[in-house]
Amino acid sequence: MPSAIITKNLRKVYRVKKRLGLIKSQEEIVEALKGISFEVKYREVVGLLGPNGAGKTTTIKIISTLLIPDSGEAYVDGYDVVRQANEVRKRIGLMLTVEKGFYGKLTGKENLEYFAALYGLSRSEAERRISHLIKILELDKLGAVDKLFEEYSLGMKARLSIARALLKDSPVLLLDEPTLGLDPPSARKIRELVKSLAKEEEKAVLYTTHNMFEAELVCDKILLINKGLIVAEGSPDELKSKIPKLRVITITLRNSERVRVGEVLAPLVATYTVTGSEFGETVVKVSTKNPEEILGEVIRALVACGCDISSVRVEEPTLEDVFIYFSQ
Ligand SMILES: Nc1ncnc2c1ncn2[C@@H]1O[C@H](COP(=O)(O)OP(=O)(O)OP(=O)(O)O)[C@@H](O)[C@H]1O
Ligand SMILES: [Mg+2]
Repeated sequence: MPSAIITKNLRKVYRVKKRLGLIKSQEEIVEALKGISFEVKYREVVGLLGPNGAGKTTTIKIISTLLIPDSGEAYVDGYDVVRQANEVRKRIGLMLTVEKGFYGKLTGKENLEYFAALYGLSRSEAERRISHLIKILELDKLGAVDKLFEEYSLGMKARLSIARALLKDSPVLLLDEPTLGLDPPSARKIRELVKSLAKEEEKAVLYTTHNMFEAELVCDKILLINKGLIVAEGSPDELKSKIPKLRVITITLRNSERVRVGEVLAPLVATYTVTGSEFGETVVKVSTKNPEEILGEVIRALVACGCDISSVRVEEPTLEDVFIYFSQ
């Protein structure tokens, strides 16, 4: 089976006219993509994560045949996005952040019927898909089925956009910030749906978001993109292990004598503090690059000198730390 998506060294430059005055203008070149290569397999959710202007939407637009790259290659299910664009379009479901194309004077359901016809679904197939999607996206529960699109809330629009992306039951889904502006229960619903589409229905999903928490929950693999380049990639845990960050071990002790605790720690660790908590406990903080290597030894030494440990906490680097580290 070919990979769902392959990109090789994709480059894209935008040429924009910059106004210098009333009449004068100057051409400005924006290098949106400077050579992007990655792969998405079926049953996988891959997240494109990066700051504003990093090139996420441009990448999605190229893969969905809306934009032609200046150079490089991209394939969907083995089909070339430039030379075999029609084959590619048959295989993708697309959701772009800025949703255009819905008709304000049609209801949500009528909009879906319109797009189903446009995508070539038979009447019975369209009916079946639409009632399935209305149910799983809870458009019925929200009272959105027969509401005019122009009266939709942001969350309803987002759900309808996802429903449209799923109309054809395409094997490859390209979702550009599908949870932007959604309330937490709606965002959770979409995340669960995306995961089940990949794991149970064996689809491939390329998913962009700014939300680290979400990326960690949804994505099997994350591509961190900045200024048109992939600067790091891997599972959320792999990415976290890539940043050189001091981590803090916090150990709370009941009724210990602080000077003795300091004496025990001094030969073992370079940087530590021993303070009192508001509850009369002793709080030890140790800064280290590798907590797994020293934690056992520190705890054994404290216990050996009679300390009564009530809690141990190791601060883990977050995906946000990774994002900030690689986005500078
Ligand atoms: N149609 C366009 N014309 C000119 N420049 C553009 C156009 N679309 C995007 N750009 C520029 O290309 C770069 C990448 O934009 P892109 O929309 O791909 O970023 P993004 O990662 O999706 O950002 P965001 O998180 O804000 O959605 C930016 O510098 C942007 O200003
Ligand atoms: Mg974007």
